[in-house]
Amino acid sequence: MSAGKYLATAGDCVACHTRPGGKPFEGGLAIETPFGTIYTPNITPSEQDGIGAFSDRDFLRALQHGISPSGSPYYPAFPYTSYTKVDDEDLLAIKAYLMSVEPSSYRPPKTHLRWPFSIRDLMFGWQDLYLNAERYNADPNRGDDWNRGAYLVEGLGHCGECHTPRNLAGATEKSKAMTGAVIDGWYAPNLTDALDAGLERWSVDELAAFLGTGIAKTAHDSDPNGTGDAPVTEALGPMAEVVHDSLSKLTKADLYAMAVYLKDLPAKTEPTHQPPAPNRLSAADEESGRDLYMAHCSACHQDHGQGRTPYFPALRGNPAVTITEPNDVIKTLLLGAPADPSDAFSPYVVMPAFGSILTDEQIATVASYIRASWGNDAAPVQSADVKVLR
Ligand code: HEC
Ligand code: HEC
Ligand code: HEC
Repeated sequence: MSAGKYLATAGDCVACHTRPGGKPFEGGLAIETPFGTIYTPNITPSEQDGIGAFSDRDFLRALQHGISPSGSPYYPAFPYTSYTKVDDEDLLAIKAYLMSVEPSSYRPPKTHLRWPFSIRDLMFGWQDLYLNAERYNADPNRGDDWNRGAYLVEGLGHCGECHTPRNLAGATEKSKAMTGAVIDGWYAPNLTDALDAGLERWSVDELAAFLGTGIAKTAHDSDPNGTGDAPVTEALGPMAEVVHDSLSKLTKADLYAMAVYLKDLPAKTEPTHQPPAPNRLSAADEESGRDLYMAHCSACHQDHGQGRTPYFPALRGNPAVTITEPNDVIKTLLLGAPADPSDAFSPYVVMPAFGSILTDEQIATVASYIRASWGNDAAPVQSADVKVLR
């Protein structure tokens, strides 16, 4: 893999710049924002329809400053707010790679945002307020791994674009960096908080393995009943795509560096972020939850939620199940896994979607059951929560 291709993979450019069924980098993916739908442009080397006419300077200005060759600002659905941290040399290697892919004459639909967001020049004001256009500065007090990890996580990896909450103007909030946010209904957990993403439970090596494979084994502390089956956590939804398209193709050394940096993020816990409430399932809910679980889930996840290595993740002692925000459990039940059926990421058996099989009430009941059984102790899910995410 050329240096440019590797860096484009670390930046996951293909994920946004390819529409479903389209050719890589030809754009046309619809990105929903609170301000309307934005379509990604064609970034193949076509002179007419792609970025074939971009000079090196144009390319750097786009990725580091969010300004187009004609001088108008880009919308921040293009994560230049993260790419601004990346060196000129690395970005120009990405450009050289993009110039080597097959040109496409596909023209993505035009972006029409709701007024006043349709006025692109308003984004100049936004950039004044929220864009800190600055390359990554290595911290001389930290080691090489830490600095490399920070450069990748904060820059090309643009992890904060999903894991950092946004303000009403749609900008990521610096003071709450990596403290967890909702994205397309999924919850990207707080990566600084031991309770939330469970990073505390993982060693640097385990976390690096999770980033590279989407699978984490934490056999050392989450197998209380000693069945010998190592419970596993698997990446879901948007995170499974990040692993599939990008992280799984990075070197072990880079994944290790990212894990070193992530494990060192200072803990920041939102005041609103209460520890899980104690399980308050009524006897009737527990019984109907168990019935649903035995009918629909136990064949794969096993009678006591212990899962089966290597095919089915454990639900017992799994932070993805007991996390405060139940979004990801609900989304997984509605959509199955992997969320996108064209995504052949999982080497294992795919989980069926229950969205059309179970009612909101039943999904809430079985989700509440798995969150409160076998030693799990997370608050119940309401059928209204399911309705919103359906
Ligand atoms: C999260 C989605 C996302 C990712 C990831 C992403 N882009 Fe984009 N990109 C966009 C959107 C959306 C726009 C258009 C913004 C607008 O219309 O204002 C854009 C615009 C661009 C443009 C300007 C094209 C033009 O015709 O003006 C370039 C160049 C570009 N991206 C390159 C890249 C590269 C290189 C990467 C990977 C390092 C990348 N993008 C990753 C969403 C993304
Ligand atoms: C497109 C949005 C998106 C991006 C970009 C993204 N994540 Fe995630 N991430 C999520 C979501 C949603 C989840 C929760 C679902 C899950 O647990 O897999 C998640 C979960 C995680 C978890 C916890 C897994 C667990 O089960 O406890 C880690 C660790 C993580 N992400 C690290 C990263 C890193 C590092 C990056 C940057 C290289 C990154 N993420 C980029 C959306 C994203
Ligand atoms: C045919 C087998 C199968 C059935 C039936 C099944 N699952 Fe799954 N489940 C899986 C697999 C495989 C995964 C991991 C998918 C992935 O990450 O790609 C999974 C993942 C999950 C996760 C996410 C765990 C994590 O660590 O990210 C939850 C929660 C879950 N299942 C709950 C349920 C519930 C509740 C039911 C019953 C309503 C159910 N599953 C039925 C196979 C199954």
